[in-house]
Amino acid sequence: MRISASLSLALLALTPFAATAQTPPAPQVVAQTPPMGWNSWNYFAGRVTDKDIRDSADLIVSSGMKDAGYIYVNIDDTWEGERDASGVLHTNSKFPDMKALADYVHSKGLKIGIYSGPGSKTCGGYAASLGHEEQDAKMYADWGIDYLKYDLCSFIPDVLLKQAPNDYPEQMRIMIAAYDKMGKALKATGRPIVYSLCQYGWDAVWEWAPALGGNLWRTTGDITPHWDRIYAIASQQAGLESYAGPGHWNDPDMLEVGNGELSLAENRTHFTLWAILAAPLLAGNDLPHMKPEIKAILTNRDVVAIDQDALGKQGTRAYSDGEVEVWTRHLQGGALAVAIVAVGDSRYSTHPFHLNLSKLGLHGPQAGKNLWTGKPITLTNNMPIEIDSHDVLLVRLDAPK
Ligand code: GLA
Repeated sequence: MRISASLSLALLALTPFAATAQTPPAPQVVAQTPPMGWNSWNYFAGRVTDKDIRDSADLIVSSGMKDAGYIYVNIDDTWEGERDASGVLHTNSKFPDMKALADYVHSKGLKIGIYSGPGSKTCGGYAASLGHEEQDAKMYADWGIDYLKYDLCSFIPDVLLKQAPNDYPEQMRIMIAAYDKMGKALKATGRPIVYSLCQYGWDAVWEWAPALGGNLWRTTGDITPHWDRIYAIASQQAGLESYAGPGHWNDPDMLEVGNGELSLAENRTHFTLWAILAAPLLAGNDLPHMKPEIKAILTNRDVVAIDQDALGKQGTRAYSDGEVEVWTRHLQGGALAVAIVAVGDSRYSTHPFHLNLSKLGLHGPQAGKNLWTGKPITLTNNMPIEIDSHDVLLVRLDAPK
């Protein structure tokens, strides 16, 4: 009797039906390359509506951005309404039906993201998830949400300063537990949801975020569409490269390409640096009024390919020479991306920058492709390179030597 019982159990375990009935589905892996898409905050901020999200989804498809890899359409802050007596968070009048909106975005072959935080309020003062983490995660999954940005904000005054004033180690424990709680709540839904920690790069977030399922974590405060801010953020990324890899990425914040008064060169350089940094590429511009030259930057397949390189190795600054910096990123198959950036305000016309290949570990002429002109280029040692202020020369070397 005993023998036959264990035998039948063993047989049951071997049948495919038993395997599917008993084994919970393995969670799908997400963010194997840095997430790409669009987020509402950098252009719309608090004005974003359901219609803006639908229009943006339409334009991501019709502009060719989807084909270039932009998949996530992310609603940032200001979609939230009030919680009812059962604790269910409702949307506000700008978002009448989130499930219908998610269905619409999915019908375009895109994915949809949403925003909340571990405190009682978001940064914009709207309801966040404190005390309702599982309930909110389940609601997101029911709506069909594919991406959550989880923003610290009021958790500091609400919880950290109340529960552990002047006790930094305890504050760290509480904050990490809060991010872990939402990470677990998302996993428990069984839906693959990208988990984006927005915590402004404090407290060495890159050291603890991956362990609790963070797929990306902000490494800085908020970006603005100004060269000085973009360059300051890029500079702060050097040294963080070892923390990034498939499934878990440093996030120097969403793109400002096409926003504000950034010059074409600044837009190009911003995009280049984010690609070298293996940064998530979340466009943040006004898609209905996107100029052709901005679309050309965002959809430059060669540059996107640097960002999305399957090796997942973040690049860094190799060396700098005055106001010119040389950034490199190692790519799959031994290829190398080299970005030479004129970060300062003056041109080098009277004394051009001379490339030092040995500082990149390279010897002899290097044949490659200039990714912003699409033309072949050969880099040689000591070659003078003249780059306009805030512009960049980006070269892919498929066989560096
Ligand atoms: C913070 C984040 C921004 C944005 C706003 C929304 O400032 O860093 O990216 O999400 O909150 O209120």
